Amino acid sequence: MEAGTGSAGLLHSLVRTKPVDQIVSEGGQGAGGELKRTMSLLQLTLFSVGATLGTGIFVVLGEAVPLAGPAVVLAFVLAAVTALFSALSYAELAGTIPVSGSSYSYAYATLGELVAWVCGWCLLLEYAVSVSAVAVGWGAYLNEFFDKTLGFTMPAAISNSPGEDGGVVNIPAVVVVLIATLLLLRGTSESATANTVMVMLKVGVLAFFCVVAFTAFRAGNLTPFAPMGWAGISAAGSKVFFSYIGFDAASTAGEEAKNPKRDLPLAIILSLLIVTVVYVLVGLSAVGAMPWKRFSLSGSEASLARVLDEATGMAWPSAVLSFGAVVAITSVVLTVMYGQTRILFAMSRDGLIPPIFQKVSPRHAVPVANTLIVAGFIAVLAAAIPLGRLVDATSIGTLFAFSLVSLGVIVLRRTRPDMPRSFRTPFYPITPLLGIGFCVYLMVGLGAVTWTVFLLWALVGLAAYFAYGRRHSRLAAEPAGRPATGKESR
Ligand code: ALA
Repeated sequence: MEAGTGSAGLLHSLVRTKPVDQIVSEGGQGAGGELKRTMSLLQLTLFSVGATLGTGIFVVLGEAVPLAGPAVVLAFVLAAVTALFSALSYAELAGTIPVSGSSYSYAYATLGELVAWVCGWCLLLEYAVSVSAVAVGWGAYLNEFFDKTLGFTMPAAISNSPGEDGGVVNIPAVVVVLIATLLLLRGTSESATANTVMVMLKVGVLAFFCVVAFTAFRAGNLTPFAPMGWAGISAAGSKVFFSYIGFDAASTAGEEAKNPKRDLPLAIILSLLIVTVVYVLVGLSAVGAMPWKRFSLSGSEASLARVLDEATGMAWPSAVLSFGAVVAITSVVLTVMYGQTRILFAMSRDGLIPPIFQKVSPRHAVPVANTLIVAGFIAVLAAAIPLGRLVDATSIGTLFAFSLVSLGVIVLRRTRPDMPRSFRTPFYPITPLLGIGFCVYLMVGLGAVTWTVFLLWALVGLAAYFAYGRRHSRLAAEPAGRPATGKESR
């Protein structure tokens, strides 16, 4: 299956694109079985909300307030605008190429195999590594909940990451990954239903937070509104961008959506609107209820709980909030793990990673081995590695993938202007260009260490591509234009 000989052959193989019609016609099919179309618009929207609304609002808000003061509310709006440009590009491509691979598949159709591979490799940062980081924080909220309700906490040795505050192995992180895995193996429809319930709960708990915090609202807490000026708002905006990562999760469900062309663009945009409203209301009520300077003193991890403690003088409201955080993180782990398995499914169908990742169980219509491998990888990472420092690496990988999606919109409008598009990005080409600009701006703002980690990650990815992907690429082995079925023996 060697893809070509000589430097011309090499170059050709690196930039070969996969025809859009072929990508779309393969949708749903894997080795041994097919994915089922079960997800409605509501489920898709809540899938994206599930993947988005979590650690960012429950933890990162507390770290952002000391940077911007009460103007943290504007920081959430700034991050939302950044996310919106990318979301519009995602919406256009998800409606045009509704397959599981999300931005990996869009890049394969527009920018060539090598860029697609690098994109898929970066999505490992956005999905698998980020979900490990999110799972690490689950134990902290569980402890807060146990403390408030039962008066005990788990020993540090089994609830913290190795080397952090006496931690040896983070067992709760493994438990939350296990819960998500069991749900995913039951089936996509079952996972979506469980996620719907969890999203309702977490939005309900945050609504409860807003009601309680607004009763303690003091207009004086909002002055001065922006004590650190624009620089503070901008720094806080970069920080809270993390809380928007995940709105693209619905795009990984392209092969399991009932009406993907109509529903994927809607789900992506709706989910972004929902989380933006929630974030702005929670941010406003939080800084209205507690003077902003007290956020840096409150211990950032559970700052929303501290707001409720101060507002009510009682323990039960923060117990409710901790419960909400436990549920919120479970739903992030579930939906982001789902997204990771579906992206790997698409890459495997293209031959770029081993075929085991596209084996679908005929009984539950889910890729079982794929799910177990992803779960094992995430559980080991979450149990054994303190992942706080990798969070920025997650952001850089995500921003890179987002900028490729905006670039993909521009390329596809030029190469396939004729294609029917269920959603067209408004104000083209300004919107995708701004999308790329915002992503690059935020990437440049990330530190040298993050860039080093990112470049090393990309180098390992390139080595993997040349060692395996390029040699097994199905596109290389197929005569141009022949639609593949995804069921062929390898
Ligand atoms: N946006 C996700 C969260 O805040 C990653 O947990």
